[in-house]
Amino acid sequence: MSRIIEAEGLTKVYNGKVKAVDHISFSVDEGEVFGFLGPNGAGKTTTIKMLNTLARITEGRASVAGHDVSRSPGAVRDSIGVVPQELTADDELSGLENMILMARLHHIDGGAARRKSSELLSLVELDDAARRKVRTYSGGMRRRLQLVMGLLHEPKVLFLDEPTLGLDVQTRSKMWEYIKGLNKDRGLTVFMTTHYLEEADSLCDQIAIIDHGTIKISGSPAQLKETVGGDIVTLTLSDGAEDLTNFFEGIEGVKEVTRTDSVYRIKLPKTEKALPAIVEGLVRKQLQIKEISFTKPTLDQVFLEVTGKSMRDEEAPQSDSGWENIRMQRASGN
Ligand SMILES: Nc1ncnc2c1ncn2[C@@H]1O[C@H](COP(=O)(O)OP(=O)(O)O)[C@@H](O)[C@H]1O
Ligand SMILES: [Mg+2]
Repeated sequence: MSRIIEAEGLTKVYNGKVKAVDHISFSVDEGEVFGFLGPNGAGKTTTIKMLNTLARITEGRASVAGHDVSRSPGAVRDSIGVVPQELTADDELSGLENMILMARLHHIDGGAARRKSSELLSLVELDDAARRKVRTYSGGMRRRLQLVMGLLHEPKVLFLDEPTLGLDVQTRSKMWEYIKGLNKDRGLTVFMTTHYLEEADSLCDQIAIIDHGTIKISGSPAQLKETVGGDIVTLTLSDGAEDLTNFFEGIEGVKEVTRTDSVYRIKLPKTEKALPAIVEGLVRKQLQIKEISFTKPTLDQVFLEVTGKSMRDEEAPQSDSGWENIRMQRASGN
């Protein structure tokens, strides 16, 4: 698979003193969904802005769709769709009018603009609302409109900055479905930031966790979760049984065993591997299992381990000023 985004030593210093992004390197393969996770102020939006040519790179380099971001910003802009954290659609225009305006910014005219706009609006189920002013839209409808506004020029890479922020659970899962569909059906590469770790877990092929401007850990969701020590099996045996700590510790793959009376917590990289041996051993000893359960590690545990804070404690990110200027910058073509 070819690399569609590459960053090497990418660094951003604001006003000569605020180091927002500090020598990060990563790559994204074509067709992947890449999740960029991190607490508020970690440097996610700044990274997206550098890759989108909207913020100057202080040090290091990046390329998107084969074009160097600093040397060929125009070619990069033609290859990408950007769905900013801030909503940029015009309230006083209808959804369709916003789409056509955006199409014009990309030099798509008349019939083609209309056809593409209608097709994309129906993709996110906004056909019925297409002719209504955006001011009458719900938050979810606005996000859906914003999503397809970034797709009119058929970009190769779609950048999404907190695409589901503030939406209720149902609307969020709808958004994820659209994003997944765009990735699967159109082969669109997706680079996204999000605060919702469970959703990132199910949607992303690769994840990088950034904190204080540096990447703390990256890999597939499964790889990241393995780093926190795997699954935990909780076993309750009938009272009065011998202490089985040593027995469990002797089983291949078992990492750690803690016991409280007849309840054992067994840490292992993969339940599927060690569980048969555990159960067989107990049967051989003619011991009765009263209760057995296991929990898989979550990305939230990974996040907690590498950043020292839980994503759940985070407040919703503040709005990033600057995104509002996207349309203006694009319109003026710089
Ligand atoms: N235009 C700016 N000028 C100065 N500092 C900024 C600017 N934009 C962001 N920052 C600072 O850079 C750091 C990273 O911000 P940002 O990239 O927005 O983080 P995130 O998107 O992960 O919340 C923060 O400390 C933020 O205050
Ligand atoms: Mg941000």
